[in-house]
Amino acid sequence: MQKNVFIFDHPLIQHKISLLRDKNTSAKEFRELTSEISTLMGYEVTRDIPLKEVEIETPMGIAKTKVISGKKLAFVPILRAGLGMVDGMLNLVPMARVGHIGLYRDHDTLEPVEYYCKLPHDISECDVVILDPMLATAGSACDAVKFIKARGGKSIKFVCLIASREGVERLSKEHPDVGVYCAAVDEKLNDIGYIVPGLGDAGDRLFGTK
Ligand code: PRP
Ligand code: URA
Repeated sequence: MQKNVFIFDHPLIQHKISLLRDKNTSAKEFRELTSEISTLMGYEVTRDIPLKEVEIETPMGIAKTKVISGKKLAFVPILRAGLGMVDGMLNLVPMARVGHIGLYRDHDTLEPVEYYCKLPHDISECDVVILDPMLATAGSACDAVKFIKARGGKSIKFVCLIASREGVERLSKEHPDVGVYCAAVDEKLNDIGYIVPGLGDAGDRLFGTK
């Protein structure tokens, strides 16, 4: 596996991913699980955010201790399925900014089509975490990274639930500076670009549209 790829092997994440894959999981449960997994992933993804030393007055004296430094964090979900991961991340970092990138895959070409992009004005100063449950062909992820870089974004991570081997390879090749975080890398894509075994269509399962 490429050195910029991190697989979350925490038992709670692995257990919840199994429930998410189950075709009998309802949209309500799917949304809850996605949010819970995102919080658990958020804990790991924020592991390296910078701290600064401060002095805090406790009831007993002065403590030399640490708080998060001024560096800003921006979560950027890829619409629409990425929305399912935002609240779980914000549970941990409520002050983070949230940008949105709207992309859908053309069913015939599998190429991403952009329909919306609104990012924080100071994206160039933010640590950016792109959120999307699925990394399949990586077309959407690569476009999202391009948009963010074109607007000055430099520090970028991509967090998904399930990736395909092909998707990980393409994203790492086109953007070796972007860390890829996921709970599983599945072997293959089918002939309409779905991850097998994957979990099906994440957007439809989150929003009950199928
Ligand atoms: C899904 C998923 C990713 C994309 C992954 O979105 O949420 O954004 O497909 O596929 P790729 O790696 O081959 O680009 P979809 O295009 O189905 O749109 P939706 O979220 O609006 O359902
Ligand atoms: N998008 C999804 O929602 N699921 C896949 O398996 C591939 C792309």
